[in-house]
Amino acid sequence: MDILVIGGGGREHAIVRKLKESPKVGKLYCTPGNGGISRDAECAPVGAMDKDGVLAFAKEHKVDFVFVAPDDPLAAGMVDHLEAVGFKCFGPNAKAAEIESSKVFSKNLMKKYGIPTAAYEVFTEQGAALDYIKEQGKYPVVIKADGLALGKGVVIAQDAGEAEKALQSMMGEKIFGESGSRVVVEEFLTGPEVTVLAFTDGETLYPMASSMDHKQAYDGDKGPNTGGMGTISPNPAYTPEAEKRCMEEIFLPTMKAMNAEGRRFKGCLYFGLMLTPDGPKVIEYNSRFGDPEAQVVLPRLETDLVDIITAVAEERLSEVEMKWSDKACACVVMASGGYPGSYPKGIEIEGLDADGQIPGKPEVTVYHAGTKLENGKFYTNGGRVLGLTALGADLEEALQKAYEAVGQVRFEGAMFRKDIGRRKL
Ligand code: AMP
Ligand code: GLY
Repeated sequence: MDILVIGGGGREHAIVRKLKESPKVGKLYCTPGNGGISRDAECAPVGAMDKDGVLAFAKEHKVDFVFVAPDDPLAAGMVDHLEAVGFKCFGPNAKAAEIESSKVFSKNLMKKYGIPTAAYEVFTEQGAALDYIKEQGKYPVVIKADGLALGKGVVIAQDAGEAEKALQSMMGEKIFGESGSRVVVEEFLTGPEVTVLAFTDGETLYPMASSMDHKQAYDGDKGPNTGGMGTISPNPAYTPEAEKRCMEEIFLPTMKAMNAEGRRFKGCLYFGLMLTPDGPKVIEYNSRFGDPEAQVVLPRLETDLVDIITAVAEERLSEVEMKWSDKACACVVMASGGYPGSYPKGIEIEGLDADGQIPGKPEVTVYHAGTKLENGKFYTNGGRVLGLTALGADLEEALQKAYEAVGQVRFEGAMFRKDIGRRKL
């Protein structure tokens, strides 16, 4: 099978590398890809949002399957566009992807079907939202832009002043564009956060190994929110009891709710969960693999990923048997100085071999997020640059190997967190 992967970050590199392990794969393409991905798949400069460009590429190269990985092309109907002319795809159609692209939709879905989540109200007017927050007088309070906002559309306001500022930037100044024309104001929950990704074809749902993200930029969970600065799998807070409750109270009810709404979800459904004193609750859904969650979950997958994605597309996932490694996995992200604010690009990365990996360290995988390759050298080309990832007998060993690898890679201004996997639960 010749497969095209859409996207160009660390997540897509992890997907490409896992697909490459399959004996069933012929040619692998990735658009637009990046410097590191180009060592594992043929890349071409077709933007992830360019529906006609992707379709033309898929036709020209006669690919057998398209894996749409990022949220924005899914929300924009990339899968609908490709399926309409007969391409098989992994990923939800636009109607199903709305579970991520509209917080108002997902909150209302949870309310309607009794899926546990934070209590909330929806507002289309800035003044009404602020009045409500002041009336409630409960802080911190969580304010979320309705639409996609690059993971930055959530503000935890500690007082009325912070709430007013957040509402003004989302609804007044529209810093996220139309994504902020509606906001969700919700109750602040506490407890350890867990990410569970699940493969589903709308009839069968297989949760993958659990993981933990580290969203804040700096050690001790301080600083601005990012796309994710590192991950571990499994998540130590996710007990067998929590797993059982999540399956019964959240995962299966969500799959069924989407069917009942005529939005059958096929692909990878991302459950962002909080294990609160009142039980597990949904913080957010995503319609795709997390980044950098994919980087620690996929290395633990022992079933052939091609068998899974084709079964999802053909709605026969129940025929596939899922196998996971007992090993633990850790990923430490190295980012450009200044990320998630503005940062320079084009800085040479030292310590990598011709394939963008660390020489003499086959036990470590370097997933490239924002790199480009020019004349045999790798340069920074994004906020998150690399994800240094290792498997180990336990989390301790995986973290030790990943951090050892961090020590071997250098680029000017590089930032990384030193406390991935060290959060007190
Ligand atoms: P989201 O983009 O919805 O995942 O939110 C980003 C982060 O904000 C989450 O990972 C949580 O740490 C935090 N967060 C979101 N909603 C809540 C909530 N209701 N209570 C507490 N923290 C929250
Ligand atoms: N790492 C969080 C996300 O992919 O949404």
